[in-house]
Amino acid sequence: MAEAQGQAQERRLDQFNRVGFILAAVGSAIGLGNIWRFPYVAYSNGGGAFLIPYVFALITAGLPLLIMEVTIGHRFRGAAPLAFARASRKVEWISWWQIAISFVISVYYCVVIAWAMAYSVFAVGLQWGSDTEAFLLGDFLRANVDPGTIGSLVPSVLVPLVIVWALTLGILFAGVKRGLELAARVFIPTLMVLFFAIVIRGITLPGATEGLNALFRPDFSGLADPNVWVQAYAQIFFSLSVGFGIMSTFGSYLPRGSDLNNSSAIAAFSNTSFEVIAGIGVFSCLGFLATQQNIPINQVAEEGTTLAFVIFPQIINTFPGMNSLLGLLFFASLVVAGLSSHISIVETYVAGLQAKAGWSRRQSVAICGGFAAVVSLVFTTQGGLYFLDVSDYFINSFGLVMAGLAEAVAFAWFLRRLDDLRTYSNPMSDFTVGQGWKAAITFVTPPMLAVIIGTTLWTTLQQGYGGYPNLLLGIGWGVLGASLVAGLAFGAKSWAEGRLDMPEDTGTAREATT
Ligand code: ALA
Repeated sequence: MAEAQGQAQERRLDQFNRVGFILAAVGSAIGLGNIWRFPYVAYSNGGGAFLIPYVFALITAGLPLLIMEVTIGHRFRGAAPLAFARASRKVEWISWWQIAISFVISVYYCVVIAWAMAYSVFAVGLQWGSDTEAFLLGDFLRANVDPGTIGSLVPSVLVPLVIVWALTLGILFAGVKRGLELAARVFIPTLMVLFFAIVIRGITLPGATEGLNALFRPDFSGLADPNVWVQAYAQIFFSLSVGFGIMSTFGSYLPRGSDLNNSSAIAAFSNTSFEVIAGIGVFSCLGFLATQQNIPINQVAEEGTTLAFVIFPQIINTFPGMNSLLGLLFFASLVVAGLSSHISIVETYVAGLQAKAGWSRRQSVAICGGFAAVVSLVFTTQGGLYFLDVSDYFINSFGLVMAGLAEAVAFAWFLRRLDDLRTYSNPMSDFTVGQGWKAAITFVTPPMLAVIIGTTLWTTLQQGYGGYPNLLLGIGWGVLGASLVAGLAFGAKSWAEGRLDMPEDTGTAREATT
């Protein structure tokens, strides 16, 4: 009892203020997904026309679910699983599933940040040489093993990974206000300065217009392709950090009476603006490279890893002057964007298990973070690149979207709590959400997500993924299945237990929140 009171006291003292919450939510949302994922996804799915399904997905699913998640965390005063359990023990498992998904994402996401950290050093003196692909796969990752086999640990990845974990866990040890909020206050302005320097330089390069034309030239025929809509929804989920359990955890760190709706909207629109600006910066640079090499833009526009770690080093090599500085800026901005998202992803299971197991925050950071750091070693092996790619595909394309669907159905159809949530958040918020918000979560999001999952499932079962062998695909399916089983296992115990009481500090009174 005394222990529970102590934890409640700790929670009341260690909270965000409004600006801190918005910055932390923006820090979580803006990540690797914005810089390397969005530009290619938009380009290859209809260019300017992609903005139609993208904005549709943002308005009908991303923002409504973001507001719902933040409100759940705030209304039920707890990190993700505790808040869900207080809404109903029967839905707690969904939250554990989201946390298991976050765990999987965190253990490979940190490795990509470690690559970017190493590349910030390689940028000095352009150590990747002229064959940037051979450097990435050979010299750096030593990925000369068959996909699906492990090989040995790669020290050049391991060393920066240790630094990434030290930074992540150091920030989380410091708590919500002095850790997450302070980090966001440092990271977000730093990221803006670094990235805007790249964008401004990018759009003034020769050939930038070609790149921007390629990115924004609308191909409306793409709108008839269901896969384009699938890509738009998947991008919005990953990018907004919806379906991870992050936003309900962050919502629980806002003081009573805080604005919820507008703060969520500010975070969502900041993320989208950054995403579009990142697209402009990246495609200006691609246009420059294509012009320099006198080749069509589709030969340099690549996705994810290749874009960041093969094509960008080529752009940096070709750059007219101050190459090392541009390289350092680009990879440092990846590190900062990645770290500010990574801390929020790890926070979900740190906070979730802290509440469940009754640990102190420091115990939870040490146990959960230590375990995750050890698991992430798998991705620092010679076969790590392939494990990473396949885990990323299965957990993002299916896990996140499925857990988002389960969450929407649970609150809209099963518990029918949406009116309760909006009558809770509206009086405290700068603007109110009404029937449109409810209709989006009840009638638009579930069928759209069901179609997305069905389409992706069908394609993957028919065609596999990435040309990988069955062993590796089996690992991908296994990771996906294991996250669901973990969610059910953690949630199942609760079903037998009685209703959970709300803590004393529940209320809607408006307090000073700035
Ligand atoms: N929202 C984070 C990103 O975009 C996970 O990378």
